[in-house]
Amino acid sequence: MKLIYLLALVVVLTSCSGPVQKQSDIDARVDSVLNLMTLEEKIGQLNLPSAGQFTTGAAANSDIAKKIESGQVGGLFNIKRVAAIREMQQIAVEKSRLGIPLIFGMDVIHGYESVFPIPLGLSCSWDMDLIERSARIAATEASADGINWTFSPMLDLSRDPRWGRISEGNGEDTYLSSRIAEAMVRGYQGDDLTANNTIMSCVKHYALYGAAEAGRDYNTTDMSHIRMYNEYFPPYKAAIDAGAGSIMASFNEIDGVPATANKWLLTEVLRNQWGFKGFVVSDYTGVSEMIAHGIGDLQTVSARALDAGLDMDMVSEGLLTTLKKSVDEGKITEQQITEACRRVLKAKFQLGLFDDPYRYCSEERAKSEVFTATNRAEARKAATESFVLLKNDNVLPLKKSGTIAVIGPMANTRENMTGTWSVAARFSESISVMDGLTKAVGNSAKLVYARGSNLHEDAAIEERATMFGKSLNRDKRSAEEMRSEAVRIARAADVIVAVVGEGAEMSGEASSVTNLELPQTQRELLKALLQTGKPVVAVLFTGRPLVLKWENENVPAILNVWFGGSEAGDAIADVLFGDVNPSGKLTTTFPQNVGQIPLYYVHKNTGRPLSGPWFQKFQSNYIDVSNEPVYPFGYGLSYTTFTYGDVKVDKSSITQGDSVTVSIDVTNAGKYDGAEVVQLYIRDWVGSVTRPVKELRGFKKVMLKAGEAKTVTFQLTTQDLSFYNSDLKWVAEPGEFSVFAGGNSNDVKEAKFTLQ
Ligand code: BGC
Repeated sequence: MKLIYLLALVVVLTSCSGPVQKQSDIDARVDSVLNLMTLEEKIGQLNLPSAGQFTTGAAANSDIAKKIESGQVGGLFNIKRVAAIREMQQIAVEKSRLGIPLIFGMDVIHGYESVFPIPLGLSCSWDMDLIERSARIAATEASADGINWTFSPMLDLSRDPRWGRISEGNGEDTYLSSRIAEAMVRGYQGDDLTANNTIMSCVKHYALYGAAEAGRDYNTTDMSHIRMYNEYFPPYKAAIDAGAGSIMASFNEIDGVPATANKWLLTEVLRNQWGFKGFVVSDYTGVSEMIAHGIGDLQTVSARALDAGLDMDMVSEGLLTTLKKSVDEGKITEQQITEACRRVLKAKFQLGLFDDPYRYCSEERAKSEVFTATNRAEARKAATESFVLLKNDNVLPLKKSGTIAVIGPMANTRENMTGTWSVAARFSESISVMDGLTKAVGNSAKLVYARGSNLHEDAAIEERATMFGKSLNRDKRSAEEMRSEAVRIARAADVIVAVVGEGAEMSGEASSVTNLELPQTQRELLKALLQTGKPVVAVLFTGRPLVLKWENENVPAILNVWFGGSEAGDAIADVLFGDVNPSGKLTTTFPQNVGQIPLYYVHKNTGRPLSGPWFQKFQSNYIDVSNEPVYPFGYGLSYTTFTYGDVKVDKSSITQGDSVTVSIDVTNAGKYDGAEVVQLYIRDWVGSVTRPVKELRGFKKVMLKAGEAKTVTFQLTTQDLSFYNSDLKWVAEPGEFSVFAGGNSNDVKEAKFTLQ
């Protein structure tokens, strides 16, 4: 047995740690390992190469295997399956001098093989238990397959739908995103990280990655500190407070310094102010990219990153190849490397890897716990909750009878169901819309199908929107030919389900766009289908808010299904036929055009707010389009209707530290049972700094039977009224407050109270 295992064991035996390890025990064990390490071995722990290349090749002979053997690798990512992971772990444990186990990471973003809706979609469920369970299932499946570290949750707030990665986040709101952050971390990590079915979470991308200028990926961000603290930082902080073990530095710069080497961000805010005790990893080549950012050569940027507080280098090998030289030249100290190494080792102890490096490598679990019927059922349920009914002029729900024409480029593709970042998915086993509808109607209705159009009139754009094995196998026929076939088929049907929108890779990393309208060829298809006079429901696939002005004006029913995951097709059938009543509510504003961006509900009032109808000269509005969105934050319809009573507060005045109870009666006034997301917003009318016109401070999802009424109550404390002032101090300032409650951010009832 290697010395470190003996030492680690001695520490275990002399301490009385239960199933949940004590921090002091871990510290002692980390020290016992650090004492044995050379400088080179410590630097080796900071190196995180991608294992991608040998998932198909002979692992043992690869370059990386040699590096592992010589103690130059701390962990690996982009590697799947127990056998491959065990093989790598064996090299680390048995062949390297000290036998320090590797940590194995992966982008398990919205499920593993049982794929849940893309995060933006899942956020529209506003269901924190469901979101936590989705992370729990993802952790169970990933850990059963050898993974113990996930690069999730992604908590970059974004108010720019041009940015492709808006699909990976939780939308535009600080408060909601913070609650989701906590749920995701709890789901992944549980309360015992050493358990073989929990994995360490890595919060990303710290920070402000979602505020890239012009929505162009990797672009510069520039933001006031007061906005960072009040709006963009809280979700990351919520995840840290929930115990997330690691965090990933973002690609972008902040205050002119790339996040990867930004000491204010990685040390002052993260560690000193927030008390983060975990480790910081760079994003993919985030270290070497700082050469292109223009802050130095590889040695300089690597030393700056370490000095700033970065602990692990993903892919660049800048830390691996230059830190020793920087120590020799007195640019950094060995102590700084020891501290970084300490944090990486600590994570491995927390995961229990020193007690059993193979604890996540069970062929048996891999066979029985991944892509199970139970997990898939949960993913299907989650998908139904993520869908947002945007419009419904008496078309939905559909009857399972007559002839249903299913038409559109997204109707018959399994590969595109899971959306972006679904690296572990089994594409060919996902449920397409046609699969789902066919199963649902059985013999009771007739389904007819036509593709109707390609995804995009421009073949090059279509290819970019369907990369990574998600090709739609472009139809060679002309647009007119495809359209007339679709119209012929649609004419013989009773109702048309038009399955349109984006391909899976049209959003996600490096998938920014400048045009948010449906591709012209799909718009033409919709027009032709509408001309048949048959009722049309658009089933819309998208990874971002789109510009749906024309669709909202012309298509009688629109169900936004995002990318619903491996079970999307079944879930779509559940909702279209009314077996499940839709309850999703938007977590991003849908603008009227690209020029309105950024358009979000938490805006400031300005000195010249538009009062009265649009247009008013010398007020804050546009000549050519109103300030209104097509669909506001929090919006979503149901097959039933909910009515709201007046909002009430139990006190007209409270003092610091006190709380106020807000209540509102909600009635299901329609014919279907359904769930409603009741939202609570506040406004602080006068502050030492300007405050937004509305801010979410609570939400509850309530189930109401047809005809049923419930009183929904919220507790608002002075914490909920607080904000960061000009000195970045967290304060609740006395004065008048409004509370608003309702079914979306635009449609609310108001009451007032005062903070003394
Ligand atoms: C992405 C990260 C991801 C990493 C590892 C990067 O390109 O920005 O979100 O975790 O790759 O796959």
